[in-house]
Amino acid sequence: MTTRVFALHPGGVWDEALAVAARALRDGGLVAFPTETVYGLGANALDTDAVARIFAAKGRPADNPLIVHVAHLSHVRPLVRAEPDALPIVAGRFWPGPLTLVLPRSPLVPDVVTAGLDSVAIRLPNHPVALALLNRAAVPVAAPSANRSGRPSPTQANHVLADLNCRVDVILDGGPTGVGVESTVLDLTSAVPTILRPGGVTREQLAAVLGRVEVDPRARALPVLDNHEWDAVRSPGMKYKHYAPQAPATLVEGEPPQLWRKLYELLANRALGARVGLLVSEEGARWLAGQGLPGGTLLFSLGPRQAPEQVAKRLFAALRQADEEGVDWLLMEGFPEDGVGLAVMNRLRRAAGGNIVMAGSK
Ligand code: TXA
Ligand code: MG
Repeated sequence: MTTRVFALHPGGVWDEALAVAARALRDGGLVAFPTETVYGLGANALDTDAVARIFAAKGRPADNPLIVHVAHLSHVRPLVRAEPDALPIVAGRFWPGPLTLVLPRSPLVPDVVTAGLDSVAIRLPNHPVALALLNRAAVPVAAPSANRSGRPSPTQANHVLADLNCRVDVILDGGPTGVGVESTVLDLTSAVPTILRPGGVTREQLAAVLGRVEVDPRARALPVLDNHEWDAVRSPGMKYKHYAPQAPATLVEGEPPQLWRKLYELLANRALGARVGLLVSEEGARWLAGQGLPGGTLLFSLGPRQAPEQVAKRLFAALRQADEEGVDWLLMEGFPEDGVGLAVMNRLRRAAGGNIVMAGSK
């Protein structure tokens, strides 16, 4: 299949691109489109064959369910069996936005979308291109992130092209995404609303509106939990190694300056001739550069430690760039888990695949 790419600039003429993309969706095809979080790989959620094509294009395990994207709150009703009291509260406050709600599914939603679960995940994205496409196609759109399974999520159209060229019908290029990490997945089927995956809407923001919010322990992706029985996992996506750069990665957690000292010590002990990529805060970059970096070291500065939104925005592109530069080893700085920092640490721990070092311990 040939992939058609359309650039949709603010203020430009989108009509042809949207017509082609909406037709592709209605004809059972695949369309990659920007959202405020990451690019999505969309298909008509009510078309079983089309949704099956998403899994094939991504190489995604069939037991990992998809998020259904809608253009209006009123489009949720046919997809759900019941509307929990919290639904209008959180949707009213955070939609359109980076929040996905897990709700009791109606029979209208095909099994292939929910991986056979009794619930369906739904989100109303906050991006002009996504909303224009959803309105034009006039169908609910199932869309995971538009990366090959296991790769970092795409925050630019060229990331999508790198992973999925000739595997999708249309790519809508709306420029770099704003949030940079995926939506927060909030389960509204449990007695207390529970964050299954931290993302663009923070735990603090949800707590302010809902009063009580739980964080599923697995949402922090702490390595000790990797040994748990995964059968009981509520958000199936959490069990897969994710966002993985091709090179092995090590995450160092703790407080500066011990944290930076540990990073430097690991760097100094690298294998002879190894090209190391350092994924660090602005302050960390400055401190490490001050020690003198060995030749061939690549420094990726993600942003100030106290500005997790900036770090989130740059994270996935930096992971991909490290791969492109052919680093042999990626050393990553851990960040505070406040605000979007919780999502950043979830992604970093999973990128490290359990290679986590605590600064201050041996
Ligand atoms: O920001 C985002 O959420 C992006 C954009 C494209 O909207 N989408 C995205 O989709 O990240 P994906 O497929 O990469 O991640 C969806 C997550 C997975 O962890 C999946 O297991 C979880 O949502 N999920 C989907 N349906 C679920 C359900 N019924 N119950 C629990 N978790 C569910
Ligand atoms: Mg994904």
